[in-house]
Amino acid sequence: MGLGIFDLSGKVAIVSGAASGMGRATAIALAEHGAKLLLIDLNEEGLKQTQSMIAAAGPRPTIQICDTSDLAMIGKLFAKLDLEMGRIDFLANIAGEGILAKPENITQEQLLTVFQNLVFGRFAMCQEAGRRMLAQGNGSIVNIGSLASNTALGRGHIAYSMAMGAVVQMTRELSTEWARRGVRVNAILPAQVMNPSLEKRIAADPSMEQKWLSGIPRGRLGNPKDIQGLMVLLASDASSWITGTLIPMDGGNLAMNAGGTIGT
Ligand SMILES: NC(=O)c1ccc[n+]([C@@H]2O[C@H](COP(=O)([O-])OP(=O)(O)OC[C@H]3O[C@@H](n4cnc5c(N)ncnc54)[C@H](O)[C@@H]3O)[C@@H](O)[C@H]2O)c1
Repeated sequence: MGLGIFDLSGKVAIVSGAASGMGRATAIALAEHGAKLLLIDLNEEGLKQTQSMIAAAGPRPTIQICDTSDLAMIGKLFAKLDLEMGRIDFLANIAGEGILAKPENITQEQLLTVFQNLVFGRFAMCQEAGRRMLAQGNGSIVNIGSLASNTALGRGHIAYSMAMGAVVQMTRELSTEWARRGVRVNAILPAQVMNPSLEKRIAADPSMEQKWLSGIPRGRLGNPKDIQGLMVLLASDASSWITGTLIPMDGGNLAMNAGGTIGT
């Protein structure tokens, strides 16, 4: 049986953060559905691993080292895209990190670093992709937000939450501005998905895992693969009337208020 409405053949996609976690899982799923890929990350070794995993089953994706908080590097990335691929149909704007620090201690420099990474860099990626998609008359962008886009986490997340809140408003504004001209912009808001930084935090304080699970009715932490179906849907024409949405990928976290009791 063919891929039907989820067939991505003929589409070109950029995936940032493709050396690990949700970026790698997204890249694999898009490739399995026929997309041609330009994969970017800071981590060359990880990018090469993702490239090999995909090339074992299909066409070899192009990889490029790119710091998505560096506007000059983003400019060069899109110049490469124009030269080698000639179009962009889907942007998975995934890369980006926070800095944990208490609100009373965080420095302006730390705040700026987080915003440069999660807000200004992400916006530059949307702008470069968006200009090309507007010229084509179609395209789809997904920004990764977070649980912290909607709710406060405490535990030193002030800069991360402020920035992830901005990612949500960026998504709403861009979708409102660009929908009529065929460009869709959505956000996926994950709760805790296992990755190297969560592993470190659990190793430092084993009670963290239970704390996170107490907010997840589904009863398990996320796995990077949990994002694959959503990414394929949002990259495909099957989602052509879906734009400006904020999709929780959180095992039921957002639906449950803090005083709720998880059913057994
Ligand atoms: N894992 C979670 O629990 C969770 C929850 C909500 C949101 N998020 C967000 O989702 C995104 C991906 O998370 P993940 O769990 O897949 O993380 P991960 O650590 O597994 O992968 C992140 C990748 O992004 C790359 N990266 C980081 N900064 C970069 C930069 N400036 N330029 C280019 N590449 C860069 C890293 O090298 C790494 O390969 C992040 O923005 C994260 O904040 C994660």
